[in-house]
Amino acid sequence: MTSPDLEAVPASAYREAMAQLASAVHLVTTDGPGGRAGLTATSVCSVSDGPPTLLVCLNRGSSAYPAFLRNGVLCINTLTAAQEDLAADFAGRVPRAERFEGREWGKLQTGAPVLPDALVAFDCRIVDHHTVGTHDVLICEVAALAEIRDTDGLLYAGRHYRVLPRRTASAG
Ligand SMILES: Cc1cc2nc3c(=O)[nH]c(=O)nc-3n(C[C@H](O)[C@H](O)[C@H](O)COP(=O)(O)O)c2cc1C
Repeated sequence: MTSPDLEAVPASAYREAMAQLASAVHLVTTDGPGGRAGLTATSVCSVSDGPPTLLVCLNRGSSAYPAFLRNGVLCINTLTAAQEDLAADFAGRVPRAERFEGREWGKLQTGAPVLPDALVAFDCRIVDHHTVGTHDVLICEVAALAEIRDTDGLLYAGRHYRVLPRRTASAG
């Protein structure tokens, strides 16, 4: 169902408005019969803690997309401030086939690639998906979690990467 009111908002104005929101930055990765693939994403959101479930919105036009649906699993690797280069690589600076080169990737339950020094990682099974415009909303049940790192986070806001300093105990 399409609302006539929503059609009055141009996509460019919507994108500019959304650029004002600050988001954590993630590498969303997958592996399995559909091959290994990954991309940079900010559209990740918690849905429920019972069962632990999150959603991620993926552009169906991205080269990595078919692998996600075929494999049915993914890992959300949340990046640290030191991993800005990886965010650019997985956003298209490096071709899909070469994005995983040059580092050791781990695994948890599902076999999706886990970035060992990520801020945190959510290893997931895709339990449902819904098509909305250009994107699919993937509903993902969390099968396992990686250890949380005590380090600065990476944010994307105003079309720039920024550092989110880790709050220390002494800072209150
Ligand atoms: C900061 C940032 C956030 C992004 N967030 C998303 C996202 O949430 N979902 C998505 O499908 N693509 C997102 N993208 C785009 C993909 O990373 C990029 O288009 C894709 O990996 C490159 O396409 P390819 O895999 O076909 O080379 C984002 C890109 C950047 C730089």
